[in-house]
Amino acid sequence: MSVLLEVDRLTKVYSLGNFLSRLKIVAVDNVSFSVKPAEVFTLAGESGCGKTTTARLILGFEYPTSGVIRYRGKEVEGLQGKKWWFKEVQAVFQNPFETFNPLKKVESYFFATVYNYDLADSKRAERFIDEKLQAVGLSLQEIWGKRPGELSGGQLQRASIARALLTNPSLLIADEPVSMVDASLRMSIVNLLRKLCDTFGLSVIYITHDLATAYYISNRVAIMFRGTVVEMGPAEILVHPKHPYTKLLLQSILMPKPKEEKEEKRVSVFEEEEEYLQKGCKFVLRCPEAMEVCEREAPCDLFEGETMVKCHLYR
Ligand SMILES: Nc1ncnc2c1ncn2[C@@H]1O[C@H](COP(=O)(O)OP(=O)(O)O)[C@@H](O)[C@H]1O
Ligand SMILES: [Mg+2]
Repeated sequence: MSVLLEVDRLTKVYSLGNFLSRLKIVAVDNVSFSVKPAEVFTLAGESGCGKTTTARLILGFEYPTSGVIRYRGKEVEGLQGKKWWFKEVQAVFQNPFETFNPLKKVESYFFATVYNYDLADSKRAERFIDEKLQAVGLSLQEIWGKRPGELSGGQLQRASIARALLTNPSLLIADEPVSMVDASLRMSIVNLLRKLCDTFGLSVIYITHDLATAYYISNRVAIMFRGTVVEMGPAEILVHPKHPYTKLLLQSILMPKPKEEKEEKRVSVFEEEEEYLQKGCKFVLRCPEAMEVCEREAPCDLFEGETMVKCHLYR
C-alpha cells in the first residue's frame, strides 16, 4: 500500500464575532496531501499558517468545514473519536510540561495507557513500558517515581514520544516537538523521530517552522502559507525551491533578524479577513516576483514529477 493517510481538499473556517460583525478565519484552505508508510512528511511554515489546525483536524479534535480524510483508503469521519483511531494515530505536542500533570508521577501515564488499551497484563506491563522507553533512549528506572518537573524538557519530550509508541501506532503527528526543548538537545529528538520511522516503519507528520530540521529528517515537505500548501515535494525542494514564498523563507533563515522580529508573529484576524476576500494569489502582497495575473487569479496546483507548486510563474 502506497498511501497511509490521505488529506483531500481539507478546509477549516472559524467564525468569530457576533451577529453584527461576522469574521471568518480560514485556518486551513483546501489542503491536500498524502502520507506514505514509513516516511517523515513535514508540514512547514510560519506561525499562524494552519499547521496545528491541520493536525487537529486529522486527530479528530476539530471538525472540518469541508474535505475528507482517508486512512488506509477509508474515510475516517466518525472513527476519529474511537479507541481504534488513537491506537493507530498518536500525537506529540509542543510543550511536554502541558502533556503531563505536574502533580502526577510520569510512569502513571504509561500504566494508565497500557491498561486502558489492554496492551499488556499487569505482569508484563513494566517490561512493555520499559521497552518503549528504551526505544527513545530512556528507561523505566530513570523515570520511576518522578514528577514532570523532575525531568528535563528533553527527557519529558522523549517520555511523551515513548507514551505515544505504547499503542504501536502507524502514524505519529509531532507538532513542533522541539521548539520548547533546549537547543542543544533538539537535534537528538529530531533524529529520534527519523530513527523511529526507519526502525519501526512508523510514519511521522513532523510539524515545524524550522526548515533546517525539516530538511534533515524529511522524506517529503509541504510548505504552508496562510492555510494553503504553496509547494510540496521531496525534501530537496528546500535546496531548489520554486515558490517565491519558499525562497523567502529559506533566505530568512540565512539572514540574522533583529531581535523583535524573531518573536512569533501572529497574523491578525483583520489581515486574515482581507486575505479571505482577496481573489488572486494569497502571497501577492509580499511576493518579489508578483505579476499582474497574480492579483486577478488564484494560482492552481502545478505538478512536475513529485513536486507541486502553486504559482503562476510555472504555468
Ligand atoms: N479555535 C480557533 N478559533 C479561531 N481561530 C483559530 C482557532 N485556532 C486557530 N485559529 C486561527 O487559525 C490560523 C491558523 O492557526 P494554527 O493552525 O494554530 O497555525 P500554526 O500552527 O501554523 O501556527 C491562525 O490565524 C489562528 O489564529
Ligand atoms: Mg501551531
